[in-house]
Amino acid sequence: MIKSGIVQKVKKIPIIDLASSYQLIKNEIENVVLEVLASGSYILGSNVTLFEEELSKYIETKHVISCANGTDALILSLMALGIRQGDEIITASHSFFATSEAIALVGAKPVFIDIQENDFNIDPDKIEKLITKNTKAIIPVHLYGQPCDILKVVDIAKKHNLFVIEDCAQAVGAKLNGKTVGTFGDIGTISFFPTKNLGAFGDAGAVVTNNEELARKIKQLRFHGSLKRYVHEYIGLNSRLDEIQAAILRVKLKYLDEWNVKRQKAAAYYNELLKNVKGIIIPQVKPGCHHIFHQYTIRLQNRDLVHEKLKELGIETIIYYPIPIHLQKAFEYLNYKSGLLPVTEKICNEILSLPIYPEIKPEVQEYVVEQIRNILENS
Ligand SMILES: Cc1ncc(COP(=O)(O)O)c(C=O)c1O
Repeated sequence: MIKSGIVQKVKKIPIIDLASSYQLIKNEIENVVLEVLASGSYILGSNVTLFEEELSKYIETKHVISCANGTDALILSLMALGIRQGDEIITASHSFFATSEAIALVGAKPVFIDIQENDFNIDPDKIEKLITKNTKAIIPVHLYGQPCDILKVVDIAKKHNLFVIEDCAQAVGAKLNGKTVGTFGDIGTISFFPTKNLGAFGDAGAVVTNNEELARKIKQLRFHGSLKRYVHEYIGLNSRLDEIQAAILRVKLKYLDEWNVKRQKAAAYYNELLKNVKGIIIPQVKPGCHHIFHQYTIRLQNRDLVHEKLKELGIETIIYYPIPIHLQKAFEYLNYKSGLLPVTEKICNEILSLPIYPEIKPEVQEYVVEQIRNILENS
């Protein structure tokens, strides 16, 4: 019997509840924000430096260079590696648009690779077929919080002398065999967009690397190609982190492991609730993976109907992502035709992400699953 009484009084169930999460750390956040306001230092100050140090300890990487957002983190990485017009970069079509957009913005060509059904991440066995004399790098994405098959990706990259940039926007704190994502390749990129599992209260991002030279270059590139005032070695960007966001991220970083474990528990509870619901494929956690469930994404045949009916009931679910990037109008010039990436294209019609956040209540999850079961039984 589902204990949904409490939930029925609540009008809407959001996919993520940022306002409730804020209430739990309200005092700490307000204190540090007020300190920054009083300090008179607002961009790239001591909070930024300390946040970079604390995050590099957390990720176990030598260098963290913060920047304005996760898209810039990708652009800065590509710029630092010297990627330019004519270069080809292999990446997932099943991701947020920014992964490929960054490649195009530096003038290079995204080469889209299909994904695996079991983890929604790139299929490393398909990489070698796509490598040409112009291939310079691979950008795998650790989508929804689960590490991709990064060991295989790195092996192939080494064999062919390619760079690896790991897009960790959705996976801060995810690990493979105890090693944090972002530290396997040459560079890792992070987004602290508010809905991310380590989210700021505005836009923010970071690049992580163990490579001293790349770190130095990225640090310059984020500030108009300059390390010394009014001396510019490169054409760069204005992509800096501000003190308020850094101070907030410093507070939130302390809770990240606890929140990631809560997400895992919520995912385990969904698994249990959904195990007897016919027609649903629950997300798999692959061996050795510390999946931090940025999203809890199920697969089902009548996805659109369930999505719509849940919306009518006030339950927010999201399709990440409904149109594969290779079929987006913006990349029409690359001439990808439908059918070229069959797993990606199939998955796009089946996936649905359910509400998940550290504070989600079991009653809410029970209610969500009960409604899915009702919809499926009556369709
Ligand atoms: C996989 C992925 N890559 C890159 C980004 C871009 O990050 P931002 O929105 O901070 O620019 C996002 C953010 O949604 C993302 O999910």
